[in-house]
Amino acid sequence: MSIVCRKALLEDVDALFELIQGYAANGIMLPRSREALTRQIDTFLVAQDGDRLIGCGSLFRLGSDLVEIRSLGIVDGYKGQGIGSRLVDALMEEAKLQGIPKVMALTYESAFFQKNGFHIVEKEIFPEKVWTDCVHCPKQHKCDEIAVVRLIEVAPSTEQMSFAQI
Ligand SMILES: CC(C)(COP(=O)(O)OP(=O)(O)OC[C@H]1O[C@@H](n2cnc3c(N)ncnc32)[C@H](O)[C@@H]1OP(=O)(O)O)[C@@H](O)C(=O)NCCC(=O)NCCS
Repeated sequence: MSIVCRKALLEDVDALFELIQGYAANGIMLPRSREALTRQIDTFLVAQDGDRLIGCGSLFRLGSDLVEIRSLGIVDGYKGQGIGSRLVDALMEEAKLQGIPKVMALTYESAFFQKNGFHIVEKEIFPEKVWTDCVHCPKQHKCDEIAVVRLIEVAPSTEQMSFAQI
């Protein structure tokens, strides 16, 4: 099996829509319309096996120093093979290239993120998040997802940062 992780292209929109819609139907992800995916395609990375799109993840900027991993998903049959971790690594690399020191996610899969170097934090430390995607979420006032964060060393000033300061 030769899996490639790469930036998403406009021709991936239909496959991305199907993958995300499958998880959105079960309340695991927020739905994304084809129009939104088309607009935001530059924020997505995908994993591909042959000509099949088998995973995706995106980076959404929440502030000058904070991005969120969104829409991270692997299709059934490909889970547990390290592909989710490869996508997280690639997304972390992308955040680093953009000079963004904090990467967070809201997730039901906190154990997976912890294996990938993230730490569980109180979600209330992320005020920006409330004003973006959450306002469209049916669970807005009873959010049961877990907030996780990982810091990246992008500049000397971030090296001293502790989670209490986020
Ligand atoms: C969560 C998800 C992206 C993980 O992708 P994956 O390719 O299956 O994960 P990996 O194979 O890279 O797993 C990496 C490590 O995390 C562990 N892990 C993966 N899913 C886990 C889970 N649900 N609970 C505990 N550990 C988990 C793996 O066992 C592995 O550990 P190891 O390195 O000790 O072997 C995938 O299961 C998925 O698509 N889930 C549904 C969508 C979802 O919930 N996305 C998260 C939205 S933020």
